[in-house]
Amino acid sequence: MLRFVCSVTLLLAAGFAWAETPAGLPDVIHPEDNPSTPEKVALGKQLYFDPRLSADDTISCASCHDPAKGWSNGEQFATGVGGAKGGRNSPTVLNSAYSKQQFWDGRAKTLEEQALGPIANPIEMKMVLDDVVAKFNKIPGYKEQFQKVFGTDVTQEGMAKAIAAFERTILSGDAPYDRFKAGDQAAMSEAAQRGMKLFFGKANCSACHSGHSFTDFAYHNIGLDSEDTGRKAISNLDGDHGAMKTPTLRDIAKTGPYMHNGSLKTLEEVMAHYNKGGNGNPYQDEEIYALKLTPEEIADIVTFMTEGLSSTNYPLIKAPELPQ
Ligand code: HEC
Ligand code: HEC
Repeated sequence: MLRFVCSVTLLLAAGFAWAETPAGLPDVIHPEDNPSTPEKVALGKQLYFDPRLSADDTISCASCHDPAKGWSNGEQFATGVGGAKGGRNSPTVLNSAYSKQQFWDGRAKTLEEQALGPIANPIEMKMVLDDVVAKFNKIPGYKEQFQKVFGTDVTQEGMAKAIAAFERTILSGDAPYDRFKAGDQAAMSEAAQRGMKLFFGKANCSACHSGHSFTDFAYHNIGLDSEDTGRKAISNLDGDHGAMKTPTLRDIAKTGPYMHNGSLKTLEEVMAHYNKGGNGNPYQDEEIYALKLTPEEIADIVTFMTEGLSSTNYPLIKAPELPQ
C-alpha cells in the first residue's frame, strides 16, 4: 500500500496525472508517429514553459497560453517579442487535443504542425527555427533528454512532437455538468440546470457548441464586427467569410476576453451579442438570430457556463525547472 501511495505521489509530483481522462471526455488519440511517453511529455512541458524559445528569451508558449489564465492570456490580443501585437486573441490550449484543425481559421492540421508556427512567427517568438535548434543543442539538459526520448540531438521535429505530446495532456473535463449528466442531480444548482435547458433548447447554443468539448469543431460567422476574413483565407469559399472555429466552452469562466478579436470582455457581453441576434452581416450564420431571452434566462445561461462547465481538477500546471 505504502509503495502504491508513493508511486502515485511521485507521478502526481512529476505532473503525470494525465493517464486518466477526466470524466465526460473521450480518450485522447495519439498520432501513430508520435506515441506519448512520460519522458516525452516532461520534455514537452519544459519546452512549453521555456522563454529561450523566443528571440530575446522573454516569451514562452505559456506567456500567451498561461495555465493561470485558462491557458489563454487575459488580454485582447497576444503580445509577442518586443511588444508586437497580433490581430487575434489567444485561444485556450485546453482540449486542443481533440481539435482536428488548429487556429481560429484551422490553418494547421495537427498540434505537431502547429507547434513550430509561433516560434518562427515574427509577432510571437520571432526565431529562425534552425537557430532555435542550434541554441537548444547547446543546453546539455535538453541534448540529453532528446537523446533519451528520440535518439537524436535537438531537432525541430522532436520539439514539435514533445510540445504536442504535452499539449495532449491539457484537458478540461469532470465539471458539475458531467456529474449531473452521469445522474448526480445535486451536482448543479437549479439556476445552472435552467441555464442548461436553455443552452440546449431555446437559446440554440448547442447548434454549434455541441459534444464533449462544447464545439462542433466547425467554422461559423456569428455576426461580430470584424475585418478578419477568417476561414475564407484557407478554404477560398465565400461562405466562409469571417467564419471562425467554434471554441470550446469548457472552463470558459477563466478564458476571457472572448472571441477571435477579444472584443467581448464578459460572458454577459457575449450573451447580449447572441440575444440581439448578432450585428448582422451578409455572411452571418443562419443559426444566429434574435433569441428574445429575458434577463433571468440570460443570467441562468451564464451560470450554466461558469458553474456547470468549470472543471474540478483544472490543470493548473506550474512551470517546471528548466534544463541548463
Ligand atoms: C505571442 C503570443 C503567443 C505565443 C508566444 C504562442 N501563441 Fe499559440 N496562439 C496565439 C494566438 C494569437 C493564436 C491564434 C492565432 C490564429 O488563430 O491565427 C494561437 C493559437 C494556438 C493554438 C491553436 C488553438 C486552437 O484552438 O486552435 C495552439 C495549440 C497554440 N497556439 C499553442 C502554442 C504553443 C505550443 C506555443 C509555443 C511554442 C504558442 N502557442 C505560443 C498566441 C501565442
Ligand atoms: C452558429 C454557431 C454558434 C451558435 C449558435 C453559438 N455559438 Fe458561441 N461561438 C461560435 C463561434 C464560431 C465562436 C467564435 C466566433 C469568433 O470569434 O468570431 C463562438 C464564441 C463563443 C464564446 C467565446 C469563446 C471564446 O473562447 O472566446 C462563447 C462564450 C460562446 N460562443 C457562447 C455561446 C452561447 C452561450 C450560445 C447560445 C446563446 C452560443 N455561443 C451560440 C459559434 C456559435
